[in-house]
Amino acid sequence: MFSCPFCKQLLCEEPTRWVCPDGHSFDKAKSGYINLLPPSGKGQHGDDRTMLAARRDFLNSGYYAPLLEELSRLIDGYTEDAPVLLDAGCGECYYTEGILAELSLRGKRPEVYGIDISKEALILGGKRRIDARLAAASLYKLPFPDHGFDLVYNVFAPLSAEEFCRVLKPAGVLLLTIPLQRHLWELKELLYATPYENKVADTALPCFEFLGRTDVRFPMHFEDSAAIESLFKMTPYYYRTPKSAAEKIASLDALTVSAEFAILAYRKI
Ligand SMILES: C[S@@+](CC[C@H](N)C(=O)[O-])C[C@H]1O[C@@H](n2cnc3c(N)ncnc32)[C@H](O)[C@@H]1O
Ligand SMILES: [Zn+2]
Repeated sequence: MFSCPFCKQLLCEEPTRWVCPDGHSFDKAKSGYINLLPPSGKGQHGDDRTMLAARRDFLNSGYYAPLLEELSRLIDGYTEDAPVLLDAGCGECYYTEGILAELSLRGKRPEVYGIDISKEALILGGKRRIDARLAAASLYKLPFPDHGFDLVYNVFAPLSAEEFCRVLKPAGVLLLTIPLQRHLWELKELLYATPYENKVADTALPCFEFLGRTDVRFPMHFEDSAAIESLFKMTPYYYRTPKSAAEKIASLDALTVSAEFAILAYRKI
């Protein structure tokens, strides 16, 4: 289902590479992903290694499992037996892996693609050895033909409504997961004298009908400083707060933090 970034024809999978009828060829990296980004010489895209490793460790510990559970339940409800799914901005594939597992448990046979602009994230994702096809690519130029996906989901990654609409089948579903106003509030209270609430974007999207919103809220109890440190390092606050605030976080050995998300569902019109 990948399309060639040069000529747009479909790529065919071979054991070590993907290749188009004109011979444009994309080798699989050791970890299995392919690089469909245009050559730019700009170096690394996306989150850095500290952030990626922190997010992987934090997510693998299961702190966001209630969100994964709800997302899987919604995807199950919106799809038939063998859905073609896109994890748009898959990062290090925590949700890609979890959704594959959850849907398989529910008796489905999903075909799953994941794209992210960060090759470092995809290397970590590839190490999960899951049955998903992964590519480095931009959300704003998806390497897929029109109308191929039953459902696209996006967890905290940039929104590219036009491209999501293009690659979805008619009446296909888009699920967007966003943080709510007071997500991670207690952490922010520790870091900032006057913490600000997250802005929650308007729900209307061009080319989509809004189906509904599911809120997912739960407290997270941390009883070890390593988990608190991972949570802190996977947020942008880690890069924005002064050293004294970071030291305050490092000295904690217990903390309760609210996780508050919304999953917004849309149908392509
Ligand atoms: C907050 S992370 C979320 C990752 C994953 N969905 C998760 O929740 O674990 C946002 C992801 O979006 C990716 N990203 C940012 N801009 C992108 C773009 N223009 N195209 C593709 N991916 C992008 C980043 O590399 C990062 O992996
Ligand atoms: Zn080609």
